[in-house]
Amino acid sequence: MTEPLLPNGARLLDLPKFTDERGSLTYVEQQNHLPFELRRAYYIYDVPGDEVRGEHAHIDLEQVLVAASGRFDVVVDDGEDRRTVTLDAPDEGLYLPGMTWRAMTNFSEDAVCLVFASEYYDEDDYVHEYDEFAERAANTRVNEG
Ligand code: TYD
Repeated sequence: MTEPLLPNGARLLDLPKFTDERGSLTYVEQQNHLPFELRRAYYIYDVPGDEVRGEHAHIDLEQVLVAASGRFDVVVDDGEDRRTVTLDAPDEGLYLPGMTWRAMTNFSEDAVCLVFASEYYDEDDYVHEYDEFAERAANTRVNEG
């Protein structure tokens, strides 16, 4: 099931969850759960509670973020609108299309931020300055009418 839209078409994705007396299991299948072809996965962990991660935008990269353990907040910003989403369930993913500014904050001690990504690591795909991102996003909106 798809949740309401966030800025730039970001959205929450429900992932399957199997729970019995032995615990829980969630799986992610490219065709069924990721809106892109998977090329890379990485995870961020051991983050001090007052640190910010992922404070940038990607031009083309698409990602799905999952709180595989613990909780953290994700700022989602398209250059015009900004929303903060709390991820705290391993069976919930946050899809971020290209040209989305994001930042992860308020990590719990046990938090693991698992990321599924559409491309290999490419420093040239990053936009690190918010003002540059907002300008690029505005130009994209003008060009797309
Ligand atoms: P960084 O971009 O600073 O993390 P964040 O997403 O929190 O802003 O990444 C930390 C380091 O890891 C940096 O030197 C780049 C490197 N890195 C890779 O080599 N491959 C990857 O897939 C990622 C995501 C990062």
